[in-house]
Formats: sequence, structure tokens, C-alpha cells
Amino acid sequence: MKQIKTISDLEDLRKSILKQRDPEKITIRMCLSTGCRAKKSTKVISALENELTNQGLHEKVEIKRTGCHGFCEMGPIMVIEPANIFYRQVTYEDIADIVFETISKGNVVQRLLWKDSRTKEYTKTERDLPLYKKQKKHVSYNSGKIDPTDIEDYISVDGYSALCKALSTMKPADIVDIVVASGLRGRGGGGFPTGIKWRICSAAPGNRKYIIANGDEGDPGAFMDRSLMEGDPHRIIEGMIIAAFAIGATHGFLYVREEYPIAIEHLSLAIQKAEEYGLLGNNILGTGFDFNTTINKGAGAFVCGEETALMISIEGKSGTPRSRPPYPAFEGLWGNPTIINNVETLGNISQIILKGADWYSNIGTSTSKGTKIFSLVGKVRNTGLVEVEMGTTLREIIFDIGGGIRKDRRFKAVQTGGPSGGCIPISKIDMPVDYDSLREAGAIMGSGGMIVMDETSCMVDIARYFLNFLLFESCGKCIPCREGLKQMHHILTNICEGKGEKGDIETLTEIGHFMISASMCGLGATAPNPVLSTLRYFHDEYIAHIYDKKCPAGVCKDLFEYIIDKELCNGCTLCKVRCPEKAVSGEKKKRHRIDPEKCIKCGICYNLCKRKAVLVI
Ligand SMILES: Cc1cc2nc3c(=O)[nH]c(=O)nc-3n(C[C@H](O)[C@H](O)[C@H](O)COP(=O)(O)O)c2cc1C
Ligand code: FES
Repeated sequence: MKQIKTISDLEDLRKSILKQRDPEKITIRMCLSTGCRAKKSTKVISALENELTNQGLHEKVEIKRTGCHGFCEMGPIMVIEPANIFYRQVTYEDIADIVFETISKGNVVQRLLWKDSRTKEYTKTERDLPLYKKQKKHVSYNSGKIDPTDIEDYISVDGYSALCKALSTMKPADIVDIVVASGLRGRGGGGFPTGIKWRICSAAPGNRKYIIANGDEGDPGAFMDRSLMEGDPHRIIEGMIIAAFAIGATHGFLYVREEYPIAIEHLSLAIQKAEEYGLLGNNILGTGFDFNTTINKGAGAFVCGEETALMISIEGKSGTPRSRPPYPAFEGLWGNPTIINNVETLGNISQIILKGADWYSNIGTSTSKGTKIFSLVGKVRNTGLVEVEMGTTLREIIFDIGGGIRKDRRFKAVQTGGPSGGCIPISKIDMPVDYDSLREAGAIMGSGGMIVMDETSCMVDIARYFLNFLLFESCGKCIPCREGLKQMHHILTNICEGKGEKGDIETLTEIGHFMISASMCGLGATAPNPVLSTLRYFHDEYIAHIYDKKCPAGVCKDLFEYIIDKELCNGCTLCKVRCPEKAVSGEKKKRHRIDPEKCIKCGICYNLCKRKAVLVI
């Protein structure tokens, strides 16, 4: 290893790395990110290494331990190159077949291919999977392809070229200008123009400035930032160094929640390696520019993702927000000008520097440039990480990429923007996904959570669920947020329990608008979104709960009963056998009945019955 001092040093290193590679060599890319590890991908790799050694193939095959491929639901995931064969849900018991059939003979093991649950067709290659086909992977491009623990693998795919270009050929103001011209907006939620924020900070008086990468990611169900940090940590560090050079910062913090141990491990290693290669530390690339960065582990409070709370937490105090102004770009960490950017925002920087502002601003819509990573979860067939061009419609994301709704049920709504986002109904399915369209629809981009709901989701219960989360996570410092959440949650709970009253809808609306205007931080100001958006689009469901004492989706347990339809039931006994409360009675081949006194409404019978004979009334 040698220290990189110039662009030509980096080029020489890249050439020598690529020269040592044989493009024809079989490479097995195996995901070792959180999702696949949870499904024992480490065990699969050990079995693979043993089998290749036993078969004398270990020198002919390279195993690459990668980050997330995005299709975590199908993990552990393995891709065999150069044929690009995609195997899913691989276990150590499949290894002998993979080595014997695919590695030795070039055959495909059909049972390990992804199968479309509707057409029953198999897809052989990763590039042809519906989940990936309509995606535009820019920021997440390397994740799943490179080994995130190997700096040279990152360098081999143009890693740190943008840093070299920025430091050796550009002035800080040029970098700020290019980021402004690109139109990049913050991916952490608010969508503030990144370049403008950098310009404000670089002009702010002060000798000491900081840059913070926000990897807190507290939204339930979201894992975009975690996957990026685990799968391509150098991209974030490179973005941070460029940002630091642009604004004149000499120290940075990567704020990552403690619950993300693999992200912390990979980022720590990346920092260590970047220092060893001379890309971090003193006199970077011989330019005289000094920059160091450290990792700050967050304790997992949702509110600590909010920029002022996050900075207070880094300062070693209890992480609660403060009112703004002053904004961090003027007065941030320890009173010094500070830039705080989401990790995905920083992940865009190297591409903008390398390919230019025009290239970037041609991607996306007139006001939302580039791509956005979403974690597509819920009742959709294909769940996972999805990176799409801004302006892609909800229909394309949910139906073309996500494969539509599971069990052929009807699409009802999609919740975007995490717990304080809004629920968008089917009437807006052709809406382009960008900052402004989402806001107009009463939702927000947030950091990129996308939860799909079908006809079995009760929108009042959904609103209550998110409010419950926010109530728990509110720091309690300001009264509108603390008391508003408590009251709204109380009213929603009553409605779900059949105790809703006339005037509840008006009170919810009034409190919601008050919280938006009076809360101190973004948590309280956006918390009413789930309630206000469901009131806007699913007003009938609130009416049914409050006045008819009915839950049309059959979710709120106090408002419905299960019965068995006498025409449809053929007495198969499945529900009777599986009912945990022995609430179902009836003889074989005769109509069954549910005892409402014993039924706990767990829904097992409803979900089991193939004849759809269990009805919700
Ligand atoms: C309650 C709350 C939680 C937040 N959590 C995050 C988070 O986990 N990650 C993040 O990048 N931004 C989060 N934000 C937004 C940050 O305050 C800040 O706007 C963002 O990090 C700025 O980076 P950007 O300009 O690149 O988006 C949160 C905001 C609020 C109000
Ligand atoms: S964790 Fe393996 S594909 Fe996401």
C-alpha cells in the first residue's frame, strides 16, 4: 500500500488493481448486509469456501462479500458473475449443488432462481429481475457489487476520483457552485438545497467549522441509509471530505445509531483505510488540506435524527431539539458553523463532481433532481430497497417494481415519509414522486420510507399506530407537541375502540393545525400528517368508526366480529384445528361456527380459509 498524493497516484493504483483482475474469472457476490446476515449468509459463505476448497476450485473462483443488493426479503442473496445468475434464499445445504452444477458445469439450479408468484416464470439474471429493471441506481450502484471493507475495490470503480478532482483542480467556491447548479436537495427529509446550505456555511464567520453526516435513520421500516453505510461506506466519506473542503471544515462526525453495528464496523474500517491511503488526515493529497472524521454512536432516539437534537447529543448532552434560528450553518456544534447532511445526500456528491452539474440536473423533475432511494415495504409483492429517478410515479414503483399487491388484494394507500408522513390514496397512484407533489398531496418525501397498504389496513388504526410511535419518541420539551400528541392519540384510541364521539374529527383537525404552527421542531410540526392525510382521503372510515361503530377493514377489534358463511363453508375443519382459543365448532364436512364469547379476533381463521368463508361483520 502506498500513500496517494496525486491524481496520477490514484490512477496508477486503479490501473494496477484492474490489471490484477481477470474479467473472465468466476466471481460470487454474496450479500453480508444485515438482512442477509440475519438469514445466515455468513454460514452460507463458510460452506461455500469449504466446498470450493474440497473441489479444488478455490483459486478459480473469487468470493466477494458485498453489501445489500436491495432484495433483502429474498436473502441470503448470491449473484454469480460473469453470467449474472441470481440465486435467492440460499442455504448452506444448497452449496454442493451450486458448486457442482453452476460453478463446475455452468448449469443453473432452477429451484434457487426467483419465481414470479403470478406468472410462475423464473428469472435467471439479477439484471432481469422486475425489482431492479425499472430502477436507476446511482447512489446505491456499488452496494451489492463491491466489497465495502476493501478500499481498493472502491478505488477500482472510480472511488476517490471525485475527491482528487475537487482538491487538485477546484476551489472551494467552485465546488459549492457546482452543487448549487446540480439542484441536489437534502435527502434527510426537508429537501433543502444542499449547495445553498453549503454556501451559507462557507460564508459564515468562524475559523472552526464542522460537517456532520446524519445516519441516524429512526423511521420504522426504513433501511436506506443503513444499507448505504454498510454497502458503500467510502462513498459517504468521500462526499464528506469534499463537503468539508468546500465549506472549510477540518473535522467531521458520522452520527450512526448504535443499532447499526455493521454500518459502524464498515465506516470505522473505511475511515482507518482512508487514513492509511492518505485520503483522510493531514495534508490530504499533498494539498495542505487537513480533515479528520470520527463516528458518534447515537442511542436510538428518533428525535436525535433532528439536526439540533443531534448536535446537542454529539456535544454530550441529552439529545433534545432547540428552536431555530440560529440555523446550524451559522451556529451549530459548540456554536460553530456546521453543515449537517443526510448520508444519502453526501452519497450523491462524488457523482456530481465527476460528471458535472448538467448531467445531474438532467435527471429527475424541474424541482427535484437526481434519484431517491426508498425502502418499499408493506403489502407489496416485492419488498426491498428501490432507487428511482425523481418523478417516477407511485404506480411504477408499487406495481412495476414492487410487483403489485400481495394475494391479489386491492391497493388502498401508501404512506411516504416515515411516521410523520402522509397516506396517499389510490386516486393519486399516477402522481410523480418528488418533493413538491408529495407535499401537495399532504405527505412528505421524508428520508424515503414507503409503506404500502391494502384493503385489510384500517386507516384510522394506521394513523393511531404512527401517532403512538411519535408520542413515545417526542422529547416532551415543547407543549404543542407533547400535549397535542397525547390528546390526538387519546381521541384516536377512543375512535378505534368504538368510543368515538361527534366533534372528534373537528378536534383532531384543530389540534393538528395548531401543532403544525406551534411546535418547536420538525417532529411536532409533521406529527399530525398521518391523521390529517387520512382524514382528507379516508374521511368515510372515520365516519364509519365514530357514527356507525364499524371498522370497514376489520382491524379494530372492538368494532367487528368474524362469522362463517353457511353457503361458503365446506367443513374442512382447518379453522377449527388452528383456532388457538377453540372458538370454532362444527363437524367435518358440515358448516362451522365461531363462538363470539371465545373469539379473540386474531384473524387466523380469516387468513387460513381458502374458500373465503370467514367474513368480517
Ligand atoms: C424528528 C426528526 C427526525 C429526523 N431524523 C433524521 C434522520 O434520521 N436522518 C436524517 O438525515 N435527517 C433526519 N431529520 C432531518 C434533519 O433534521 C436534517 O434536516 C437533515 O439531516 C439535513 O440533511 P439534508 O439537508 O441532507 O437532508 C429528522 C428531522 C426530524 C424533525
Ligand atoms: S441485506 Fe442482503 S439483499 Fe439486503
